[in-house]
Amino acid sequence: MMASSLVTPVLPELQDEAQFLKQVAASFGKASNSYLAAARLQQQVARDALELLATDATGRLLDVGCGPGWIHPELSRYCAAFTAVDLSEGMLSKARTQQLATDYIQADAAALPLAAAQFDKLFSSLMLQWCPKPAAVLSEMARVLAPGGQLVVSTLVQGTLTELQGAFATLDQHPHIQPFLTEQQLIAATGNLADISWQFEQRSYRLFYPDVQSLARELKALGANQVAGRRPSGLTGKGYWQKLAAAYEQHRCQQGIPATYQVLFIRGAKHGR
Ligand SMILES: C[S@@+](CC[C@H](N)C(=O)[O-])C[C@H]1O[C@@H](n2cnc3c(N)ncnc32)[C@H](O)[C@@H]1O
Repeated sequence: MMASSLVTPVLPELQDEAQFLKQVAASFGKASNSYLAAARLQQQVARDALELLATDATGRLLDVGCGPGWIHPELSRYCAAFTAVDLSEGMLSKARTQQLATDYIQADAAALPLAAAQFDKLFSSLMLQWCPKPAAVLSEMARVLAPGGQLVVSTLVQGTLTELQGAFATLDQHPHIQPFLTEQQLIAATGNLADISWQFEQRSYRLFYPDVQSLARELKALGANQVAGRRPSGLTGKGYWQKLAAAYEQHRCQQGIPATYQVLFIRGAKHGR
């Protein structure tokens, strides 16, 4: 496994956004069969996010960045009908096999091919950190939400995978892990969306792994190994991995080696009605 193929998402400024979106879609498409077994964090976070939505089983819901749709059987408690959107056709095909959504739409969350003000609820878990233009995505989410509607979005923010980042930093200065946005930057991204009342809450999650290779394998199985603008570092192979593992060892505790994930929960209530 190449160390430089490790990890992860958001790039504040991308040279070729279209190319990046293609790579993200391909990477998640490839992972559509391995995703669920590796999605420990994603399942916990999505369920925590769902708890923030009203459980009244009414209205229309939009799931943006639905992945393989493993949470779709649980959505009937939150809406009467839902639409699923994902950038990756592979992920969407997987979700479609359940035939639970009214529509399955392949689209970029920053340009939703959907009419305005048609959803009573919007749910999106751990997709936003993959989007090069989070402000455009939040604006699209606000646009399709009906007056009186509510949205819940979870996303990874700065402080995620700091142990791994620290271990890489002892080996070289290449950007193996792209910077995640901060809570403040995401709050600023909602600044122009005045017809929504926003609430933000950051929570920390810690997962444990037997070794750094297991962490890398999990990220790959999730499709979370796409780094745009990555330059080959030349620092790959067994020796590199041994050094990386040795650097990570300082964090080892009884449960294994930890990886920290900082998750921001964004809630919005659209004015009106
Ligand atoms: C980490 S998975 C999360 C899937 C699911 N929401 C869950 O909680 O398990 C991220 C998903 O977002 C999708 N995605 C990434 N960028 C996207 C974009 N710009 N527009 C729509 N979907 C996107 C990916 O294809 C992938 O299925």
